[in-house]
Amino acid sequence: MLKLKRERMATTTTNANALLVAITLALLTCSPRCIHSAERRLLVGMTLVRNAAALGAFCLDGSLPAYHLHRGFGAGARNWLLQFEGGGWCNDIESCLERAKSRRGSTRYMTKWEVFSGILSNNASLNPDFYNWNRVKLRYCDGASFAGDAVFKNGTSLLYFRGQKIWEAIILDLLPKGLGQARKALLSGCSAGGLASFLHCNNFTKYLPSDASVKCLSDAGFFLDERDITSNHTMRYFVKDLVSLQGVEKNLDENCTASSLDFPELCFFPQYALKFITTPFFILNSAYDVYQFHHILVPSSADPHGHWNRCKLNPAACNPEQLNTLQEFRRDMIVAMGLFYKYSRRGGLFINSCFAHCQSESQDTWFSADSPRVHSKTIAEAVGDWYFSRRITKEIDCPYPCDTTCHNLIP
Ligand SMILES: *[C@@H]1O[C@H](CO)[C@@H](O)[C@H](O)[C@H]1NC(C)=O
Ligand SMILES: *[C@@H]1O[C@H](CO)[C@@H](O)[C@H](O)[C@H]1NC(C)=O
Ligand SMILES: *[C@@H]1O[C@H](CO)[C@@H](O)[C@H](O)[C@H]1NC(C)=O
Ligand SMILES: *[C@@H]1O[C@H](CO)[C@@H](O)[C@H](O)[C@H]1NC(C)=O
Ligand SMILES: *[C@@H]1O[C@H](CO)[C@@H](O)[C@H](O)[C@H]1NC(C)=O
Repeated sequence: MLKLKRERMATTTTNANALLVAITLALLTCSPRCIHSAERRLLVGMTLVRNAAALGAFCLDGSLPAYHLHRGFGAGARNWLLQFEGGGWCNDIESCLERAKSRRGSTRYMTKWEVFSGILSNNASLNPDFYNWNRVKLRYCDGASFAGDAVFKNGTSLLYFRGQKIWEAIILDLLPKGLGQARKALLSGCSAGGLASFLHCNNFTKYLPSDASVKCLSDAGFFLDERDITSNHTMRYFVKDLVSLQGVEKNLDENCTASSLDFPELCFFPQYALKFITTPFFILNSAYDVYQFHHILVPSSADPHGHWNRCKLNPAACNPEQLNTLQEFRRDMIVAMGLFYKYSRRGGLFINSCFAHCQSESQDTWFSADSPRVHSKTIAEAVGDWYFSRRITKEIDCPYPCDTTCHNLIP
């Protein structure tokens, strides 16, 4: 992983509109087929949220939260796409202290310019439906999917668990910049950010004009409450610790927690929270999401001898028994979405069978000549068809290995 320079943010008054279209040799970021072409990348500068301090909204280490805004234009000038950045969680003091010293827990260590590609691209031929919208990337620095509200202080260490406040501070900062007069809006996010999209979807809608068209999208955020291969509830325990450490419970959907009084923390899982979301929702996920495969289904604690190591790196190396376990995982995911699939009239789905995690942010998987498809539709087309009500979009791929359009993106 890239080691970031731990430089302090000296000049942090980056104008929200500041942007730089850099002509960069594609060598660093591109797949082999475009090595010879120079690629234009859109880089967007960071805006620190100055009013966040007054709300007590801080990153883990006490630094100010931030976002990157690229203004819309033309017919999209009054439309807004907000995208939560992802990046895992921290569920104990030790890992949160570590995180606070990294780009995952502090804006001090983040890159100050972000590449806007895929769903964030401003190029109509790369992002046909959202290219001219106002597009915002919300930086992730709280470690609890923008949903915690607590502080840890013991005399020597101090940690801010203020994700919920960060969410509010960013929204309040954007409302006067035009979000408050939005005609159309889409709240999205990937991974831990895709989970944030589930958690904040109803709340987002309440801030916007009542006649605006507001919808939400989660990319790779449908984390399952699934037991691991040893039948241990590894993920459930992880979530329980996270919710309790970071004070998340009070920010979960009240109707959900009221309906599961014995285990209110389960409302952190989309499969339980989903039916309480009243805003139209789109679930984009791989049925073999590699993060879930590696951390929920087969965490290293459940496979101490590494029997799954080869299969984790390459699905073609899985033995029949392992493949069977993966197919069961896929079935469980589809079952968990069953009611939504059947009854949600304004909802959409794109569940493909690629070994991937996050498919809306990178151009290769979002919209390109050889991007993944289900029923010959790309992810960008599926999301656009659903958002603009062009047609009902509920795509579930056939099981692995039938899909030949996959980019199996294994970290
Ligand atoms: C938009 O993307 C297309 C396809 O990659 C490319 O040919 C074109 O130069 C891009 N336009 C701009 C303004 O970057
Ligand atoms: C505070 O917590 C940290 C992390 O658990 C620990 O290393 C440190 O010793 C604690 N300090 C005090 C005064 O208890
Ligand atoms: C959104 O949620 C926050 C925190 O739970 C709450 O204080 C705020 O009032 C909500 N916003 C709206 C517009 O309901
Ligand atoms: C289940 O997982 C938890 C968390 O990883 C671990 O502490 C516990 O020992 C595991 N239990 C069993 C029976 O393997
Ligand atoms: C809970 O449900 C009621 C009735 O459907 C609704 O009015 C209310 O807004 C819901 N509360 C939340 C937090 O979504």
